[in-house]
Amino acid sequence: MCGIVGYIGRQPASEILLEGLRRLEYRGYDSSGIAVRDLDGISIRKKAGRVQELARLVDEQPCPGNLGIGHTRWATHGPATDVNSHPHVGGNGEVILVHNGVIENYATLREQLQALGYVFRSATDTEVIAHLIAHHLEEQARLGKDPEDLQTALDAVELALRRLKGTYGLAILFRDFPELLVAARLGSPLVVGVGKGEYYLASDGSPLVGHTDEVVYLADHEMVLLTTEGMRLIHRDTGARAPSIQTLDQTQHDQDLNGFPHYMLKEIFEQPQTIENAMRGRLDEEEATARFGGLNLTVQQLRRLDRIVLTACGTSWHAGLVGEYLIEEFARIPVEVEYASELRYRNPPLSENTMVFAITQSGETADTLAALRECQRKGHPTLAICNVVGSTIAREADGGIYLHAGAEVGVASTKAFTSQVTVLTLLALHLGRLRHMSHPAGKRIITALRNMPDVIRETLKCNDAVREIAKKYHHITDCLYLGRQYNFPVALEGALKLKEISYIHAEGYPAAEMKHGPIALIDEQTPSVFIVPHGNMYHKVMSNLEEVKARRGPVIAIASQGDKALDNLADDVIYVPEVEDFLQPLVTTIPLQLFSYHMAVLRGCNVDRPRNLAKSVTVE
Ligand code: F6R
Repeated sequence: MCGIVGYIGRQPASEILLEGLRRLEYRGYDSSGIAVRDLDGISIRKKAGRVQELARLVDEQPCPGNLGIGHTRWATHGPATDVNSHPHVGGNGEVILVHNGVIENYATLREQLQALGYVFRSATDTEVIAHLIAHHLEEQARLGKDPEDLQTALDAVELALRRLKGTYGLAILFRDFPELLVAARLGSPLVVGVGKGEYYLASDGSPLVGHTDEVVYLADHEMVLLTTEGMRLIHRDTGARAPSIQTLDQTQHDQDLNGFPHYMLKEIFEQPQTIENAMRGRLDEEEATARFGGLNLTVQQLRRLDRIVLTACGTSWHAGLVGEYLIEEFARIPVEVEYASELRYRNPPLSENTMVFAITQSGETADTLAALRECQRKGHPTLAICNVVGSTIAREADGGIYLHAGAEVGVASTKAFTSQVTVLTLLALHLGRLRHMSHPAGKRIITALRNMPDVIRETLKCNDAVREIAKKYHHITDCLYLGRQYNFPVALEGALKLKEISYIHAEGYPAAEMKHGPIALIDEQTPSVFIVPHGNMYHKVMSNLEEVKARRGPVIAIASQGDKALDNLADDVIYVPEVEDFLQPLVTTIPLQLFSYHMAVLRGCNVDRPRNLAKSVTVE
């Protein structure tokens, strides 16, 4: 959460910072601010609210200069107010910084600094870092170090960072070093964009798009010094390292709305393409299997697997549940799907041949990262299914599979989910073919997968029908989502989508579980969304649907095209193309994404910026 930007070069910094913050708003949008340096000193503008409020303030009170930092906030410590917005100032203005992360020992440090006379203006944990660096600058001077020597400033930062417990991505300006931008990271991502005589800094690659495609990712415990002359990377323990320049994996297309009113809708409609991208180059017709470049495990290791743990949060966890059904069905390997936030503190007995897969769109989710590290510490091979290239989890996992879905900007995850499910289908096929699965069975799966982009294109045609149905229901306060087997995780995902962007209370259940409690909720005001396509579970789910109708509960059914049985039974039906059971989640998810989207729009909610949420949850 929180987004950081920085710039040093010859262009007006404030424009670049504001544009960067707009692109990072998905990480947090409670408040924002910038600090820009020119010959007269450092000007700070900050404001509670969206980046557009800040842009208005900067219009009224411009801040010229070619060096600056900026921040968009998702509040952790202290409410979203002007004064709590970043940047924060340390000492008597010697240090100005922005921070992403959480400082766990901030209360103790604050007391110590207050005792030394430092005056705090905000309720944030961040201000502690600013004063702490200022304090160590003062200490260095007291020890006789040259206050104009760059090394003195670096030592002060280093000493301050060693006293912090928690996580940080920091961008720092110094009053007395007018051509210096320092950034440091522990647990919160930072990437440097390398231009010609200029450098960009950001929490992820999106602000760099259109400026440069050469990037350097910072590792934990690294600090980077940026001047117009060059960059220096220093690791706390191993010292200086030469920057390894990589190519940015984002394009302008990802950042533009391309005619759609919201990123969420744009990304829903990208799914035929993103599902195709997830499969590209990975289907091997001859061997009737899937192939991956980056698993980094031998065939022998994969054959020896006796258990797979899939760990993730939120929507990615739902994709993991689909993966469990797929891998157990295709490869007969026992799978457990663990919330990363639980796994990180549990101590499950994992055998030598257990493989742990982290599933994550952003590759930065704090709980997922911590679970991955915990498993690595115990010696298990860890792999990642990840969208963001170069993200922390992608780099720290022993191997993995990229989604290639392009940047997902909408806070509610849509295309990443279907790409995760696609990749998990390929993984299940790969593991199945290494074990008992026959060549014809593998071939049949590949043929079905190849059709999926067209099937999804066809599915998206339900958009108008879904919008009409949403008009009928958008005033509801509660909603149930029910499905079985492959469509149980889809029910959970449908409910999550509705909750997070339209603020309607929704619950997902395995349809047959309904009669063990939730059926008590059924009344004329509480609709149930039944996911009931043709397939193995059709008749069972139809019986559950009848149970709801018998209690006068309104029913919205997601059904296979041509299913006449529902016409007289359900209140509303959304028809989708018929596919085999294992591919149903890719199809049945689409109308649920669209339903939550239209419900939210009709309720006047900010679809791409839902309240209290941030896209990348980098705090515990
Ligand atoms: C819901 C949503 C979240 C994320 C979760 C994990 O629409 O986006 O539930 O799925 O925060 O994020 P990643 O996949 O980035 O680890």
